[in-house]
Amino acid sequence: MTEKIFTRNFHLADSHTLTRYRAQGGYTALPKAFGMEPAAITEEVKKANLRGLGGAAFPTGVKWGFIPKGSTAPKYLVINADEGEPGTFKDRYLMERDPHALIEGMVIAARAIGSHTGFVYIRGEYVKPWRILDGAVKEAYAAGLLGKNIQGSGFDFDVVLHRGAGAYICGEETGLLSSLEGKKGWPKIKPPFPAIKGAFGHPTHVNNVETIRAVPHIIHRGAAWFASLGTKSQGGTRLYSVSGHVVTPGVVEAPVSITLRQLIYDRCGGIRGGKKLKAVVPGGSSAAILTPDEIDIQMDVEGPKSKGSMIGSAGIIVMDETVSIPGALMVVARFYAHESCGQCTPCRESTGWIYKMSRRIVEGKGRKEDLDTILDVAKRGAGTTICAFYDGAVGPYISYIEKFRAEFEDLIRNTTHA
Ligand SMILES: Cc1cc2nc3c(=O)[nH]c(=O)nc-3n(C[C@H](O)[C@H](O)[C@H](O)COP(=O)(O)O)c2cc1C
Repeated sequence: MTEKIFTRNFHLADSHTLTRYRAQGGYTALPKAFGMEPAAITEEVKKANLRGLGGAAFPTGVKWGFIPKGSTAPKYLVINADEGEPGTFKDRYLMERDPHALIEGMVIAARAIGSHTGFVYIRGEYVKPWRILDGAVKEAYAAGLLGKNIQGSGFDFDVVLHRGAGAYICGEETGLLSSLEGKKGWPKIKPPFPAIKGAFGHPTHVNNVETIRAVPHIIHRGAAWFASLGTKSQGGTRLYSVSGHVVTPGVVEAPVSITLRQLIYDRCGGIRGGKKLKAVVPGGSSAAILTPDEIDIQMDVEGPKSKGSMIGSAGIIVMDETVSIPGALMVVARFYAHESCGQCTPCRESTGWIYKMSRRIVEGKGRKEDLDTILDVAKRGAGTTICAFYDGAVGPYISYIEKFRAEFEDLIRNTTHA
């Protein structure tokens, strides 16, 4: 089995404490980073081939490089701990079981981009992770690992925890920043990108919890080591949240070269009850669904893409042969209809109508033309909205119908005599 990075301390009862984190070698990357030029830290992260692990998979070091240099105006580092993508539950464990690793990563990232204030935007429902992270932040301040002149380096950095109120759209980075500013969590048109005009009108860098949590390891053990753990397109290991009809669901750490088949059958014990696999969502609910003959793909940024899907947040939802795909589409469509922020007409209207049509099919009142209407509405709206929410919703709408059309047609024929 490959070396564990993210989860290496998870089994220790006191892994959330500063004492334990230090005993396990924690906070040793920090002095090393203080001895490096900020640009050298960014370069190391680029060479490590670290990709954003929150959804969009953008190369992290490249994104850090977008923050303007030389200006004395405030710059902010914002950690996206909203974890709203259905099927994803790994950031909560990182905050509950290894909060100091996130703090150490934040200080290093802040030094690289020249930020002196960081925010962690935590999903409102995450009470336990917030409490534990809050305790760790207090410990870090008391030990001189946050605040003024950290470890005598002359570098100042403060961390503010901000709790959300339970809206999926507040995970989208510009919606998150609106919410952080105390406004309604509405996404903003890009450009300007947050790196130029973000929180409170200042340059802001947004990264996912897991992405930043990888940083101390990269600085400590080197970019080449991290890159070598992964594939050509992406370095490292990552956390896969596996849920649904597997024998042992949970958070699995694996190199990104692992295949979806290996994750399901070798790491999670296969399909429970000896049943057959029917379908699998590889990257959170916004990722297009895959059929059993599409699971021999590496779970890096390129693998799911090669099948028209995406790795997204690596939330893997496994469905066995008992699952009704029209029923699953209705559930997912209800979620997007409920969570659309309503700013953009195509998203607000289409998510509502598609939910109503998918519900009608499940309730036995479907019409022959409904499937093509859903596909038409879905495809027309894609790419026309302020943020990627609707493009994400379109992934399941189209793939569930296109890959399981016969099941939808049987249901409509057998219930409505259409
Ligand atoms: C509708 C929507 C919801 C999102 N939710 C999250 C989320 O809960 N957590 C997250 O890290 N990224 C989420 N993202 C992606 C963020 O916009 C952004 O790409 C990410 O936080 C950047 O961090 P990374 O580069 O480290 O992945 C979401 C995107 C969209 C369009």
